[in-house]
Amino acid sequence: MRKTVWNVWPRLAALAAGFALAACGGGPAPEPAAPAPAQSGEEQAGAVDPAPTEPQPAAEPAPEPPPPDPAQAKAELLAQEKSAFELAEPVFKQHCAKCHVKGGKNAKAKTLGHLDMTTYPFGGHHADEITAEIRKVLAIGGGEAIMPKDDPGAVKGDELSLIAAWADAYDRAHAGGAHEDHGHDHGHGAPHDHGHHESGDKH
Ligand code: HEC
Repeated sequence: MRKTVWNVWPRLAALAAGFALAACGGGPAPEPAAPAPAQSGEEQAGAVDPAPTEPQPAAEPAPEPPPPDPAQAKAELLAQEKSAFELAEPVFKQHCAKCHVKGGKNAKAKTLGHLDMTTYPFGGHHADEITAEIRKVLAIGGGEAIMPKDDPGAVKGDELSLIAAWADAYDRAHAGGAHEDHGHDHGHGAPHDHGHHESGDKH
C-alpha cells in the first residue's frame, strides 16, 4: 500500500515541474516545451522520433521468396563444404590417413576400396553415402565407434565435431545439387584445390 503511494509522488512532481516549465516558457526558450512532459523520464533516450514511414502500398506478395541464382547457391554450398572440410582435414589426416590414403603406412588396397581419402571428394565403395558411413563408424549420432580401426573412439570432442560439421555441410551441398556438375571421378585440374597428393604422403 505505502509503496504505491510513494511511487506516485515522483510522477506527480515531474508532471508539476513539466507544467511549470511549460507555463513560464515565455522567455527565450531554446526549444519549445516538450509535448508530453509526464513521460519525459522514459522517453528521453529515444527522444528523436524516427520519421513516420509512409504507409507502403501493399506490394504484390512475391510468389517465391527470394529467387536466388541457383548457380550461386550451389557455389555457396560448395564453399561452405570446402571450408568445413579444411577444418576437418587435419583430423582425418591424423586419425585416418595412414590406412585410408594411398601411400599411407597401413593403406591396403582393400581398405582404400572401402574409403579412399587420397583425394577429395573421397572415393571408395561407398562414395555416394560417404558421410553416412563416416558418421556410422565414428558413432556420430549414436552407436559404437569402430574407427580408427586400431583405436576406435579416438576421435572425440572438438575433433569429432569438426567431422560432424563437415559431414553436414557435405550433405547440404549434395542435397542442393552442388555435387552434380562436379562429377564423381575427380581428375587433376578439377576446381578443387586440395593438393592431390597421389602418393608419398608422409604421416
Ligand atoms: C589402422 C587402420 C585404419 C585406420 C587408422 C582407420 N581405418 Fe577405416 N578402415 C580400415 C579397414 C581395414 C577398413 C575395412 C573394413 C574393416 O576391415 O573393418 C576400414 C573401413 C572404413 C570404412 C568403411 C566401413 C564399411 O563398413 O565399409 C569407413 C567409413 C572408415 N574406415 C572410416 C575411417 C575413418 C573416418 C577413420 C579415421 C577416423 C578411419 N577409418 C581410420 C582401417 C583403418
